[in-house]
Amino acid sequence: MELFSSTVLIILGCVALFLFLQRKNSHRPPCVKGWIPWIGVSFEFGVAPLEFIEKTRIKYGPIFTLIVMGNRMTFVTEEEGVNVFLKSKELNFELAVQNPIYHTASIPKNVFFTLHEKLFILMKGKLGNSNLPQFAEQLTEQLHEQLKSLGTHGTMDLNNLVRNLLYPSTTNILFGNGLFPVNKRKIQEFHEHFQVYDDSFEYGSQVPEHFLSHGLTIFISFKQTLIQILLDAIETETSEQNCPKYMLLMLWAALSNVVPATFWTLAFVLSHPDIYQTIMEGISSVFGTAGKDKIKVSEDELKKLPLIKWCVLESIRLSGPGILARKVMKPVKILNYTVPSGDLLMLSPFWLHRNPKFFPEPESFKPERWEKANLEKLAFLDYFLAFGNGKYQCPGRWFALLEVQVCVILLLYKYDCSLLDPVPKQVCIFRITNIIIIFKFDINPNPLVLITRDDQIDVPT
Ligand code: HEM
Repeated sequence: MELFSSTVLIILGCVALFLFLQRKNSHRPPCVKGWIPWIGVSFEFGVAPLEFIEKTRIKYGPIFTLIVMGNRMTFVTEEEGVNVFLKSKELNFELAVQNPIYHTASIPKNVFFTLHEKLFILMKGKLGNSNLPQFAEQLTEQLHEQLKSLGTHGTMDLNNLVRNLLYPSTTNILFGNGLFPVNKRKIQEFHEHFQVYDDSFEYGSQVPEHFLSHGLTIFISFKQTLIQILLDAIETETSEQNCPKYMLLMLWAALSNVVPATFWTLAFVLSHPDIYQTIMEGISSVFGTAGKDKIKVSEDELKKLPLIKWCVLESIRLSGPGILARKVMKPVKILNYTVPSGDLLMLSPFWLHRNPKFFPEPESFKPERWEKANLEKLAFLDYFLAFGNGKYQCPGRWFALLEVQVCVILLLYKYDCSLLDPVPKQVCIFRITNIIIIFKFDINPNPLVLITRDDQIDVPT
Protein backbone atom coordinates (compact mmCIF):
# COMPACT_ATOMS: atom_id res chain seq x y z
CA MET A 1 0.00 0.00 0.00
CA GLU A 2 2.82 2.32 1.00
CA LEU A 3 4.62 1.55 -2.24
CA PHE A 4 1.43 2.34 -4.18
CA SER A 5 0.97 5.77 -2.54
CA SER A 6 4.64 6.69 -3.10
CA THR A 7 4.32 5.75 -6.78
CA VAL A 8 1.16 7.86 -7.11
CA LEU A 9 2.89 10.76 -5.37
CA ILE A 10 5.90 10.53 -7.72
CA ILE A 11 3.63 10.43 -10.77
CA LEU A 12 1.62 13.41 -9.52
CA GLY A 13 4.87 15.25 -8.80
CA CYS A 14 6.10 14.58 -12.34
CA VAL A 15 2.80 15.74 -13.84
CA ALA A 16 2.94 18.92 -11.73
CA LEU A 17 6.55 19.57 -12.80
CA PHE A 18 5.63 18.92 -16.43
CA LEU A 19 2.68 21.36 -16.23
CA PHE A 20 4.87 23.92 -14.48
CA LEU A 21 7.54 23.68 -17.21
CA GLN A 22 4.88 23.80 -19.92
CA ARG A 23 3.46 26.95 -18.36
CA LYS A 24 6.91 28.46 -18.05
CA ASN A 25 7.69 27.56 -21.66
CA SER A 26 4.39 28.97 -22.88
CA HIS A 27 5.87 32.42 -22.24
CA ARG A 28 8.70 31.60 -24.56
CA PRO A 29 8.57 32.63 -28.22
CA PRO A 30 7.10 30.07 -30.64
CA CYS A 31 9.70 27.39 -31.29
CA VAL A 32 10.30 25.58 -34.60
CA LYS A 33 11.84 22.26 -33.57
CA GLY A 34 11.74 20.21 -36.77
CA TRP A 35 11.21 16.45 -36.65
CA ILE A 36 14.55 15.22 -35.36
CA PRO A 37 15.54 16.13 -31.79
CA TRP A 38 18.75 18.23 -31.51
CA ILE A 39 19.15 18.46 -35.32
CA GLY A 40 15.97 20.58 -35.42
CA VAL A 41 15.61 22.61 -38.61
CA SER A 42 19.34 22.53 -39.45
CA PHE A 43 18.81 21.25 -42.99
CA GLU A 44 16.19 23.77 -44.08
CA PHE A 45 18.06 26.58 -42.34
CA GLY A 46 21.44 25.50 -43.76
CA VAL A 47 20.24 25.37 -47.38
CA ALA A 48 18.82 28.90 -47.55
CA PRO A 49 19.07 30.67 -44.17
CA LEU A 50 17.71 34.04 -45.26
CA GLU A 51 14.68 32.65 -47.03
CA PHE A 52 13.99 30.35 -44.07
CA ILE A 53 14.10 33.25 -41.60
CA GLU A 54 11.62 35.25 -43.66
CA LYS A 55 9.30 32.28 -44.21
CA THR A 56 9.27 31.56 -40.47
CA ARG A 57 8.64 35.23 -39.61
CA ILE A 58 5.61 35.27 -41.89
CA LYS A 59 4.28 32.08 -40.27
CA TYR A 60 5.11 32.67 -36.57
CA GLY A 61 5.34 36.43 -36.15
CA PRO A 62 8.04 38.91 -35.16
CA ILE A 63 9.91 36.70 -32.69
CA PHE A 64 10.53 32.96 -32.95
CA THR A 65 13.05 30.31 -31.95
CA LEU A 66 14.73 27.81 -34.27
CA ILE A 67 16.44 24.66 -33.04
CA VAL A 68 19.63 24.29 -35.09
CA MET A 69 22.20 21.62 -34.15
CA GLY A 70 21.21 21.72 -30.50
CA ASN A 71 21.27 25.54 -30.36
CA ARG A 72 18.22 27.62 -29.57
CA MET A 73 18.36 30.60 -31.92
CA THR A 74 15.75 33.24 -31.17
CA PHE A 75 15.25 35.71 -34.01
CA VAL A 76 13.94 39.22 -33.50
CA THR A 77 12.61 41.07 -36.54
CA GLU A 78 10.61 44.07 -35.32
CA GLU A 79 11.29 47.25 -33.36
CA GLU A 80 10.88 46.01 -29.79
CA GLY A 81 13.09 42.94 -30.28
CA VAL A 82 15.64 44.92 -32.28
CA ASN A 83 15.84 47.52 -29.52
CA VAL A 84 16.50 44.80 -26.95
CA PHE A 85 19.23 43.43 -29.24
CA LEU A 86 20.80 46.88 -29.51
CA LYS A 87 20.51 47.99 -25.89
CA SER A 88 20.21 45.09 -23.44
CA LYS A 89 23.11 44.56 -21.06
CA GLU A 90 22.16 40.90 -20.68
CA LEU A 91 23.56 39.97 -24.11
CA ASN A 92 27.12 38.90 -24.82
CA PHE A 93 29.04 39.06 -28.13
CA GLU A 94 32.07 36.95 -27.19
CA LEU A 95 30.04 33.97 -25.96
CA ALA A 96 27.99 34.03 -29.16
CA VAL A 97 30.93 34.01 -31.57
CA GLN A 98 33.41 31.78 -29.72
CA ASN A 99 31.93 28.53 -31.05
CA PRO A 100 31.84 29.51 -34.75
CA ILE A 101 35.38 30.89 -34.36
CA TYR A 102 36.50 27.53 -32.99
CA HIS A 103 34.83 25.62 -35.83
CA THR A 104 36.06 27.87 -38.61
CA ALA A 105 39.58 28.79 -37.44
CA SER A 106 40.32 26.14 -34.75
CA ILE A 107 41.03 28.83 -32.16
CA PRO A 108 40.47 27.18 -28.77
CA LYS A 109 38.00 28.70 -26.32
CA ASN A 110 40.58 29.69 -23.67
CA VAL A 111 42.83 31.35 -26.28
CA PHE A 112 39.88 33.24 -27.74
CA PHE A 113 38.75 34.60 -24.36
CA THR A 114 42.30 35.53 -23.33
CA LEU A 115 43.02 37.45 -26.53
CA HIS A 116 39.79 38.81 -27.94
CA GLU A 117 39.50 42.12 -26.09
CA LYS A 118 43.19 42.94 -26.51
CA LEU A 119 43.25 42.17 -30.25
CA PHE A 120 40.01 44.06 -30.81
CA ILE A 121 41.44 47.21 -29.19
CA LEU A 122 44.62 46.92 -31.30
CA MET A 123 42.62 46.52 -34.52
CA LYS A 124 40.27 49.34 -33.65
CA GLY A 125 43.24 51.64 -33.06
CA LYS A 126 45.15 50.64 -36.18
CA LEU A 127 42.10 50.75 -38.48
CA GLY A 128 40.65 53.87 -36.86
CA ASN A 129 39.89 57.20 -38.44
CA SER A 130 43.20 58.82 -37.62
CA ASN A 131 45.01 56.34 -39.89
CA LEU A 132 42.69 56.80 -42.87
CA PRO A 133 44.84 59.40 -44.68
CA GLN A 134 47.73 56.94 -44.71
CA PHE A 135 45.46 54.12 -45.87
CA ALA A 136 44.01 56.32 -48.64
CA GLU A 137 47.50 56.87 -49.99
CA GLN A 138 48.40 53.18 -49.82
CA LEU A 139 45.10 52.10 -51.36
CA THR A 140 45.51 54.53 -54.26
CA GLU A 141 49.01 53.24 -54.92
CA GLN A 142 48.07 49.56 -54.67
CA LEU A 143 44.94 49.88 -56.79
CA HIS A 144 46.76 51.82 -59.51
CA GLU A 145 49.19 48.92 -59.66
CA GLN A 146 46.38 46.37 -60.03
CA LEU A 147 44.55 48.51 -62.60
CA LYS A 148 47.70 48.51 -64.74
CA SER A 149 47.31 44.78 -65.23
CA LEU A 150 43.86 45.33 -66.73
CA GLY A 151 45.48 47.10 -69.69
CA THR A 152 43.57 49.49 -71.91
CA HIS A 153 40.48 47.42 -72.47
CA GLY A 154 38.95 44.02 -71.90
CA THR A 155 35.92 42.18 -70.66
CA MET A 156 35.43 40.14 -67.53
CA ASP A 157 32.98 39.02 -64.94
CA LEU A 158 32.42 41.83 -62.44
CA ASN A 159 32.98 39.62 -59.40
CA ASN A 160 36.28 38.44 -60.84
CA LEU A 161 37.33 41.97 -61.67
CA VAL A 162 36.66 43.18 -58.13
CA ARG A 163 38.47 40.25 -56.56
CA ASN A 164 41.47 40.81 -58.86
CA LEU A 165 41.68 44.40 -57.67
CA LEU A 166 40.94 44.00 -53.98
CA TYR A 167 42.52 40.73 -52.89
CA PRO A 168 46.10 41.84 -53.61
CA SER A 169 45.60 45.48 -52.56
CA THR A 170 44.03 44.64 -49.19
CA THR A 171 46.41 41.80 -48.44
CA ASN A 172 49.47 43.90 -49.22
CA ILE A 173 48.28 46.80 -47.06
CA LEU A 174 47.18 44.80 -44.03
CA PHE A 175 49.62 41.90 -44.20
CA GLY A 176 52.69 43.46 -45.80
CA ASN A 177 53.81 44.43 -49.27
CA GLY A 178 54.79 41.59 -51.53
CA LEU A 179 52.86 38.98 -49.61
CA PHE A 180 50.18 38.35 -52.21
CA PRO A 181 51.26 35.76 -54.82
CA VAL A 182 52.34 37.13 -58.19
CA ASN A 183 52.41 33.89 -60.09
CA LYS A 184 49.21 33.33 -62.09
CA ARG A 185 48.67 29.76 -60.86
CA LYS A 186 49.21 30.76 -57.21
CA ILE A 187 46.80 33.66 -57.56
CA GLN A 188 44.20 31.29 -58.95
CA GLU A 189 44.80 28.95 -55.99
CA PHE A 190 44.41 31.83 -53.55
CA HIS A 191 41.08 32.77 -55.14
CA GLU A 192 39.86 29.19 -55.04
CA HIS A 193 40.87 28.49 -51.44
CA PHE A 194 39.49 31.78 -50.23
CA GLN A 195 36.20 31.11 -51.98
CA VAL A 196 35.88 27.68 -50.38
CA TYR A 197 36.64 29.09 -46.94
CA ASP A 198 34.27 32.00 -47.41
CA ASP A 199 31.46 29.77 -48.66
CA SER A 200 31.83 27.38 -45.77
CA PHE A 201 32.34 30.03 -43.07
CA GLU A 202 28.67 30.53 -42.31
CA TYR A 203 28.11 26.85 -41.81
CA GLY A 204 31.09 26.54 -39.50
CA SER A 205 32.96 23.93 -41.47
CA GLN A 206 36.67 23.28 -41.21
CA VAL A 207 39.46 25.26 -42.87
CA PRO A 208 40.92 23.71 -46.03
CA GLU A 209 44.15 22.43 -44.55
CA HIS A 210 46.56 23.50 -47.25
CA PHE A 211 45.13 27.03 -47.14
CA LEU A 212 46.11 27.22 -43.50
CA SER A 213 49.56 25.73 -43.90
CA HIS A 214 50.69 27.08 -47.31
CA GLY A 215 48.78 30.32 -47.34
CA LEU A 216 49.34 31.66 -43.89
CA THR A 217 52.63 30.70 -42.32
CA ILE A 218 54.40 33.31 -44.49
CA PHE A 219 52.57 36.10 -42.67
CA ILE A 220 54.89 35.76 -39.75
CA SER A 221 57.84 37.57 -41.34
CA PHE A 222 56.22 40.94 -42.12
CA LYS A 223 56.86 44.02 -40.00
CA GLN A 224 54.95 47.24 -39.35
CA THR A 225 51.63 46.04 -40.67
CA LEU A 226 48.40 45.62 -38.74
CA ILE A 227 49.15 41.94 -38.77
CA GLN A 228 52.58 42.27 -37.19
CA ILE A 229 51.09 44.19 -34.30
CA LEU A 230 48.49 41.47 -33.80
CA LEU A 231 51.06 38.70 -34.11
CA ASP A 232 53.22 40.26 -31.40
CA ALA A 233 50.22 40.33 -29.08
CA ILE A 234 49.22 36.75 -29.89
CA GLU A 235 52.73 35.41 -29.41
CA THR A 236 53.11 37.16 -26.07
CA GLU A 237 49.91 35.65 -24.69
CA THR A 238 49.74 32.21 -26.34
CA SER A 239 51.77 29.84 -28.46
CA GLU A 240 53.06 30.68 -31.94
CA GLN A 241 50.83 28.03 -33.51
CA ASN A 242 47.79 30.26 -32.99
CA CYS A 243 49.21 33.01 -35.21
CA PRO A 244 48.26 31.54 -38.62
CA LYS A 245 44.77 30.77 -37.33
CA TYR A 246 44.23 34.38 -36.35
CA MET A 247 45.70 35.57 -39.63
CA LEU A 248 43.26 33.46 -41.56
CA LEU A 249 40.39 34.91 -39.58
CA MET A 250 41.65 38.44 -40.11
CA LEU A 251 42.11 37.88 -43.83
CA TRP A 252 38.57 36.54 -44.05
CA ALA A 253 37.15 39.49 -42.09
CA ALA A 254 39.01 41.98 -44.29
CA LEU A 255 38.14 40.47 -47.69
CA SER A 256 34.84 38.68 -47.43
CA ASN A 257 32.56 41.71 -47.10
CA VAL A 258 34.51 44.32 -49.04
CA VAL A 259 34.35 42.38 -52.29
CA PRO A 260 30.52 42.16 -52.34
CA ALA A 261 30.27 45.81 -51.21
CA THR A 262 32.39 46.93 -54.18
CA PHE A 263 30.64 44.55 -56.57
CA TRP A 264 27.21 45.93 -55.64
CA THR A 265 28.31 49.56 -55.63
CA LEU A 266 29.58 49.20 -59.20
CA ALA A 267 26.53 47.17 -60.26
CA PHE A 268 24.04 49.67 -58.79
CA VAL A 269 25.84 52.77 -60.00
CA LEU A 270 26.26 51.45 -63.53
CA SER A 271 22.65 50.30 -63.69
CA HIS A 272 21.40 53.80 -62.73
CA PRO A 273 22.58 56.02 -65.61
CA ASP A 274 21.50 59.27 -63.88
CA ILE A 275 23.52 58.43 -60.78
CA TYR A 276 26.48 57.27 -62.87
CA GLN A 277 26.45 60.53 -64.80
CA THR A 278 26.30 62.67 -61.65
CA ILE A 279 29.17 60.68 -60.18
CA MET A 280 31.25 61.16 -63.35
CA GLU A 281 30.58 64.90 -63.28
CA GLY A 282 31.76 64.96 -59.66
CA ILE A 283 34.89 62.95 -60.46
CA SER A 284 35.74 65.28 -63.37
CA SER A 285 35.21 68.37 -61.25
CA VAL A 286 37.56 67.07 -58.55
CA PHE A 287 40.21 65.26 -60.62
CA GLY A 288 39.90 66.82 -64.07
CA THR A 289 38.97 65.07 -67.30
CA ALA A 290 38.46 61.39 -66.62
CA GLY A 291 41.24 59.00 -67.57
CA LYS A 292 44.03 61.53 -68.12
CA ASP A 293 46.24 61.23 -65.07
CA LYS A 294 47.42 58.89 -62.35
CA ILE A 295 45.23 60.55 -59.74
CA LYS A 296 45.73 60.51 -55.97
CA VAL A 297 42.57 60.05 -53.93
CA SER A 298 42.80 61.61 -50.48
CA GLU A 299 40.28 62.11 -47.69
CA ASP A 300 39.82 65.77 -48.72
CA GLU A 301 38.84 64.74 -52.24
CA LEU A 302 36.43 62.12 -50.94
CA LYS A 303 34.67 64.78 -48.88
CA LYS A 304 33.91 66.62 -52.13
CA LEU A 305 32.26 63.48 -53.54
CA PRO A 306 29.59 62.59 -50.94
CA LEU A 307 27.36 60.84 -53.51
CA ILE A 308 29.95 58.10 -53.92
CA LYS A 309 30.01 57.39 -50.19
CA TRP A 310 26.18 57.35 -50.13
CA CYS A 311 26.19 54.87 -53.02
CA VAL A 312 28.61 52.63 -51.14
CA LEU A 313 26.50 52.74 -47.97
CA GLU A 314 23.28 52.16 -49.90
CA SER A 315 24.83 49.15 -51.66
CA ILE A 316 25.98 47.77 -48.31
CA ARG A 317 22.48 48.36 -46.90
CA LEU A 318 21.01 46.23 -49.68
CA SER A 319 23.62 43.48 -49.56
CA GLY A 320 24.47 43.61 -45.85
CA PRO A 321 25.28 40.64 -43.64
CA GLY A 322 22.73 37.89 -43.03
CA ILE A 323 22.91 37.44 -39.28
CA LEU A 324 24.29 38.93 -36.06
CA ALA A 325 24.29 36.88 -32.85
CA ARG A 326 24.47 37.54 -29.11
CA LYS A 327 24.27 35.08 -26.19
CA VAL A 328 21.47 35.73 -23.69
CA MET A 329 23.06 35.84 -20.20
CA LYS A 330 19.91 36.54 -18.19
CA PRO A 331 16.29 36.12 -19.42
CA VAL A 332 15.12 39.10 -21.49
CA LYS A 333 11.53 40.18 -22.10
CA ILE A 334 10.45 40.91 -25.66
CA LEU A 335 6.79 41.62 -26.48
CA ASN A 336 4.88 39.12 -24.29
CA TYR A 337 7.65 36.56 -24.30
CA THR A 338 10.64 35.73 -22.16
CA VAL A 339 13.77 34.66 -24.03
CA PRO A 340 15.63 32.33 -21.65
CA SER A 341 19.31 32.59 -20.78
CA GLY A 342 21.46 30.36 -22.96
CA ASP A 343 19.55 31.24 -26.16
CA LEU A 344 21.36 32.93 -29.01
CA LEU A 345 19.52 36.15 -29.80
CA MET A 346 19.70 36.64 -33.56
CA LEU A 347 19.08 39.61 -35.80
CA SER A 348 19.27 39.73 -39.58
CA PRO A 349 20.56 43.09 -40.89
CA PHE A 350 19.66 41.83 -44.36
CA TRP A 351 15.93 41.72 -43.49
CA LEU A 352 16.03 44.67 -41.11
CA HIS A 353 17.36 46.80 -43.98
CA ARG A 354 14.33 45.68 -46.02
CA ASN A 355 11.77 46.72 -43.42
CA PRO A 356 9.84 49.75 -44.79
CA LYS A 357 9.32 51.06 -41.24
CA PHE A 358 13.06 51.69 -41.00
CA PHE A 359 13.93 52.27 -44.66
CA PRO A 360 11.09 53.60 -46.85
CA GLU A 361 10.98 51.93 -50.30
CA PRO A 362 13.51 49.46 -48.95
CA GLU A 363 14.11 47.54 -52.19
CA SER A 364 15.04 50.70 -54.13
CA PHE A 365 18.60 51.88 -54.53
CA LYS A 366 18.28 55.40 -53.13
CA PRO A 367 21.68 56.84 -52.18
CA GLU A 368 20.05 60.16 -51.32
CA ARG A 369 18.53 58.64 -48.15
CA TRP A 370 22.08 58.85 -46.71
CA GLU A 371 21.99 62.64 -46.84
CA LYS A 372 20.19 62.45 -43.46
CA ALA A 373 22.97 60.46 -41.80
CA ASN A 374 25.46 62.38 -39.72
CA LEU A 375 28.48 60.83 -41.41
CA GLU A 376 30.73 63.72 -40.36
CA LYS A 377 30.07 62.66 -36.77
CA LEU A 378 30.69 59.03 -37.76
CA ALA A 379 27.03 58.04 -37.38
CA PHE A 380 25.10 55.86 -39.82
CA LEU A 381 21.32 55.87 -40.33
CA ASP A 382 19.26 54.42 -37.46
CA TYR A 383 18.76 50.66 -37.84
CA PHE A 384 21.60 50.34 -40.37
CA LEU A 385 23.41 47.39 -38.84
CA ALA A 386 25.65 46.13 -41.64
CA PHE A 387 28.68 46.67 -39.38
CA GLY A 388 27.00 45.31 -36.26
CA ASN A 389 26.66 47.44 -33.15
CA GLY A 390 27.82 47.98 -29.61
CA LYS A 391 31.23 47.49 -28.08
CA TYR A 392 32.43 45.07 -30.76
CA GLN A 393 31.09 46.84 -33.84
CA CYS A 394 33.23 46.05 -36.92
CA PRO A 395 36.65 47.68 -36.34
CA GLY A 396 37.35 47.70 -40.11
CA ARG A 397 34.28 49.73 -41.13
CA TRP A 398 36.01 53.02 -41.96
CA PHE A 399 38.82 51.23 -43.77
CA ALA A 400 36.21 49.22 -45.72
CA LEU A 401 34.24 52.32 -46.76
CA LEU A 402 37.44 54.04 -47.82
CA GLU A 403 38.56 51.02 -49.82
CA VAL A 404 35.32 50.71 -51.79
CA GLN A 405 35.23 54.44 -52.53
CA VAL A 406 38.83 54.57 -53.75
CA CYS A 407 38.38 51.45 -55.86
CA VAL A 408 35.19 52.74 -57.50
CA ILE A 409 36.67 56.18 -58.18
CA LEU A 410 39.87 54.87 -59.76
CA LEU A 411 38.01 52.39 -61.93
CA LEU A 412 35.40 54.90 -63.12
CA TYR A 413 38.03 57.58 -63.66
CA LYS A 414 40.31 55.38 -65.73
CA TYR A 415 37.70 53.48 -67.73
CA ASP A 416 34.36 54.30 -69.27
CA CYS A 417 31.73 51.78 -68.08
CA SER A 418 28.13 50.60 -68.49
CA LEU A 419 26.20 47.37 -67.79
CA LEU A 420 24.38 45.06 -70.18
CA ASP A 421 23.56 42.14 -67.92
CA PRO A 422 20.67 43.00 -65.64
CA VAL A 423 21.27 43.40 -61.92
CA PRO A 424 19.53 40.38 -60.34
CA LYS A 425 16.48 40.45 -58.12
CA GLN A 426 17.14 41.76 -54.63
CA VAL A 427 16.41 38.64 -52.66
CA CYS A 428 19.25 36.66 -54.17
CA ILE A 429 21.64 39.56 -53.65
CA PHE A 430 23.35 37.98 -50.67
CA ARG A 431 25.75 35.57 -52.40
CA ILE A 432 27.61 36.95 -55.38
CA THR A 433 29.46 33.78 -56.34
CA ASN A 434 26.63 32.59 -58.55
CA ILE A 435 25.90 35.95 -60.14
CA ILE A 436 27.50 36.65 -63.49
CA ILE A 437 27.53 40.24 -64.70
CA ILE A 438 29.92 40.70 -67.59
CA PHE A 439 31.82 43.94 -67.59
CA LYS A 440 33.76 45.57 -70.39
CA PHE A 441 36.28 48.32 -69.83
CA ASP A 442 37.82 50.68 -72.33
CA ILE A 443 40.33 53.24 -71.29
CA ASN A 444 38.91 56.76 -71.24
CA PRO A 445 38.18 58.81 -73.33
CA ASN A 446 36.81 55.82 -75.30
CA PRO A 447 33.30 55.03 -74.14
CA LEU A 448 33.06 52.03 -71.81
CA VAL A 449 30.46 49.62 -73.03
CA LEU A 450 28.91 46.86 -71.05
CA ILE A 451 28.78 43.75 -73.18
CA THR A 452 26.43 40.79 -73.30
CA ARG A 453 27.27 37.36 -72.04
CA ASP A 454 27.52 36.09 -75.62
CA ASP A 455 30.49 38.33 -76.27
CA GLN A 456 33.97 37.02 -75.85
CA ILE A 457 35.54 37.35 -72.40
CA ASP A 458 39.27 38.11 -72.21
CA VAL A 459 40.35 37.75 -68.60
CA PRO A 460 43.48 39.85 -68.14
CA THR A 461 46.47 37.88 -66.94
C1 HEM B 1 31.74 46.22 -46.14
C2 HEM B 1 32.65 45.65 -45.39
C3 HEM B 1 32.43 45.06 -44.02
C4 HEM B 1 31.27 44.68 -43.40
C5 HEM B 1 29.85 44.75 -43.95
C6 HEM B 1 31.64 44.16 -42.09
C7 HEM B 1 30.73 43.69 -41.16
C8 HEM B 1 31.08 43.21 -39.91
C9 HEM B 1 30.13 42.73 -38.92
C10 HEM B 1 28.63 42.69 -39.09
C11 HEM B 1 30.82 42.34 -37.84
C12 HEM B 1 30.23 41.78 -36.51
C13 HEM B 1 29.88 42.93 -35.58
C14 HEM B 1 28.81 42.61 -34.56
O1 HEM B 1 28.39 41.46 -34.40
O2 HEM B 1 28.36 43.57 -33.87
C15 HEM B 1 32.23 42.54 -38.13
C16 HEM B 1 33.26 42.23 -37.27
C17 HEM B 1 34.57 42.35 -37.63
N1 HEM B 1 35.10 42.97 -38.75
FE1 HEM B 1 34.07 43.70 -40.30
N2 HEM B 1 32.99 44.23 -41.96
C18 HEM B 1 33.52 44.77 -43.11
C19 HEM B 1 34.85 45.03 -43.37
C20 HEM B 1 35.89 44.73 -42.54
C21 HEM B 1 37.29 44.97 -42.82
C22 HEM B 1 37.82 45.63 -44.08
C23 HEM B 1 38.00 44.50 -41.75
C24 HEM B 1 39.46 44.51 -41.51
C25 HEM B 1 40.33 45.24 -42.14
C26 HEM B 1 37.05 43.96 -40.80
C27 HEM B 1 37.38 43.37 -39.59
C28 HEM B 1 36.47 42.89 -38.69
C29 HEM B 1 36.86 42.19 -37.48
C30 HEM B 1 38.27 41.86 -37.04
C31 HEM B 1 35.67 41.86 -36.79
C32 HEM B 1 35.53 41.09 -35.48
C33 HEM B 1 35.49 42.03 -34.30
C34 HEM B 1 35.54 41.28 -32.98
O3 HEM B 1 36.00 40.16 -32.89
O4 HEM B 1 35.13 41.83 -31.97
N3 HEM B 1 35.78 44.12 -41.31
N4 HEM B 1 32.35 43.09 -39.40
